[in-house]
Amino acid sequence: MMLRPRHTLIAVLLASLPVAAASAQNLDSLLARMTLEEKLGQLNLLSAGGKASPQQVDLVRRGLVGGLFNVIGTENTQAVDRVATTESRLRIPLLFGLDVIHGFRTIFPIPLAEASAFDPDLAEGTARAAGREAAAAGINWTYAPMVDIAHDPRWGRIAEGSGEDPYLGSLLAAARVRGFQESILATAKHFAAYGAAEAGRDYNTADISQRTVREVYFPPFKAAVDAGVATLMSAFNDIGGVPASGNAWLTDTVLRREWGFRGMVVSDWTSVAELIPHGIAASREEAGQRALTAGVDMDMQSSIYVETLAPLVRANRIPMAVVDSAVLRVLRAKARVAQLHPVAPNAVEIRALARRAARESIVLLKNDGGLLPLDKAAPAIAVIGPLADNRLDPLGPWHTEGKPEDVVTVLQGIKTRVPATTQVLYAQGAGIEDTSTAGFADAVAAARHAKVAILVLGERHDMSGEAASRSSLGLPGVQQQLLEAVAATGTPVVLVVMNGRPLILEWAAEHVPAIVEDWFLGVESGNATAEVLFGDVNPSGRLPVSFPRAVGQIPLYYNHRNTGRPPAADKFTSKYIDVPVTPRYPFGYGLSYTTFAYRDLKLSAARVGPADTLKVTVTVANTGTREGTEVAQLYVRDEVGSVARPVRELKGFRRVTLKPGEQRVVELRLAVRDLAFYGLDMKPAVEPGTFRVFVGPNSVEGLEAAFEVAYP
Ligand code: NOJ
Repeated sequence: MMLRPRHTLIAVLLASLPVAAASAQNLDSLLARMTLEEKLGQLNLLSAGGKASPQQVDLVRRGLVGGLFNVIGTENTQAVDRVATTESRLRIPLLFGLDVIHGFRTIFPIPLAEASAFDPDLAEGTARAAGREAAAAGINWTYAPMVDIAHDPRWGRIAEGSGEDPYLGSLLAAARVRGFQESILATAKHFAAYGAAEAGRDYNTADISQRTVREVYFPPFKAAVDAGVATLMSAFNDIGGVPASGNAWLTDTVLRREWGFRGMVVSDWTSVAELIPHGIAASREEAGQRALTAGVDMDMQSSIYVETLAPLVRANRIPMAVVDSAVLRVLRAKARVAQLHPVAPNAVEIRALARRAARESIVLLKNDGGLLPLDKAAPAIAVIGPLADNRLDPLGPWHTEGKPEDVVTVLQGIKTRVPATTQVLYAQGAGIEDTSTAGFADAVAAARHAKVAILVLGERHDMSGEAASRSSLGLPGVQQQLLEAVAATGTPVVLVVMNGRPLILEWAAEHVPAIVEDWFLGVESGNATAEVLFGDVNPSGRLPVSFPRAVGQIPLYYNHRNTGRPPAADKFTSKYIDVPVTPRYPFGYGLSYTTFAYRDLKLSAARVGPADTLKVTVTVANTGTREGTEVAQLYVRDEVGSVARPVRELKGFRRVTLKPGEQRVVELRLAVRDLAFYGLDMKPAVEPGTFRVFVGPNSVEGLEAAFEVAYP
């Protein structure tokens, strides 16, 4: 069933124009009828508290608002849109934005969790479902996907993105854009390098080379642009002293001129006003001038454009053409909204998708002695920890309209799957950030009576997300002591971790036989976790981000350069004296209840030219006793370049489901043009020479081969 499109004068006018043609020419007549104040009004974006306030309604009536966000529910969106389209002079409809990050009403796993599935089709599906639910509540624009690459788990916003790899991040960015934009406009954010905030401290400076910005941080944005994303959001941070919300190199030179982006750029929340504390503007008007002329079209929440820029335009300090271009981009975004045909959400299908997403997002980190899967018919199972029967935190950060009552907890998931003869002994043990150990005695007693103790430990939902950086990455509060106290009973322990970032799990990695990385899985958290614990589902998630051993290793990522002194036994090599250089769990890593073997790595050619595509084949065999899904990963290394290249770079992967004993030849394609990098002249090119290829289960193992790139 189609939801009824909005019928308003201007919406109909805008809808009648092909999006690509709804440019200056076609919208000229509309633009010519606008006063300067009305033009600046279209660039003004304000947050509401659920519904528009009387003051906001008044601004809408006067044509001084182009969009509102955080207005939720069609009753509320329609009420104020009606004012815009019937009472304002030009009757231009509003944009209605919201942070629909990993679900609207039905909450899916956080994006970092979902990235563990290495499954763009899944990401597209959950974005599509979220878009449908949001559209049905009057939203026409989401501030997602967040496509920031992150190398620093201290940074709380790592939860909202796809991890550390630009290739995986690009595929997921494009998939999510496609999914959302069936029903609502998407926003690739935060442009750019927000994930490179120094010391993982939110909003902090990023001071990185242009090569790294281009090769690591840009690709997911470029992928989103190529997938047709309607809008981008400028970031809070500065790059080498130039804040991203007043950075013409980013929003004009690269985005519009190099990439040909024709959509709209919105600032982040008050990031235009923040050009003052950044220290690049002395006044509100100067901040507005800097942002608008850099190419930031819509001013979120600063009200600077609408309140201060008219005199500057009249004095020719800001060319009218700059204002007009920004207004046209906003109008074109509205034209796209008018052309959307949202599909009504199907609650049953969406809930089933949430289950699939939660199952695929779980990563099995450790399983010594095959402790997992557990026997459902054990006489007694202890379920312990502050997240074991917790309905709020599995929703993760940014859970919009998600409701704790929709969440199935791990305790519930376990209870509904065991026979009546199995006793499930629950003890909270401690709260997430408790300092008291008063609850330990009950937890220890439960563990003593049980065959196995499942500890569900981790972070609160709001310990990641915006303004949630941490300087230590252990289990919060007394949870580590709780884990040790329970383990001391001698009852085998399964640690289930819920978290919005990689945690440092050193003690558990050494002493706990089984570790399940749950992240924040959303409403189906408990069902999917119990299915994995009992083996109804064989885990297939792979880490989209490295897990450090110590905070001092950060930033830690697999696709680093080699240095002139790669770590070795010698003293004077690039390493630490107190911790290995390697991560505890590397990028791409994850176990299964079965085992896989790789054989017969073959390349279709030993020498290729710049326009060729290499076929890489490998046989993957299920050598265990259960059906399972492997994520076969292809990495390359450019041996010698005019600038140093990463030790490995992901260039392809394939999910393969195999029955016990089954084997399959997996083909991965490697286009030579995808080996391009920014050389000494800062132009992308593939340099001739030897490339090594690795195909295997993660970023540190695998079979190896080599090929040459030669120019004719
Ligand atoms: C600030 C956040 O950085 C951004 O991601 C979000 O979209 C806006 N607030 C709006 O809520």
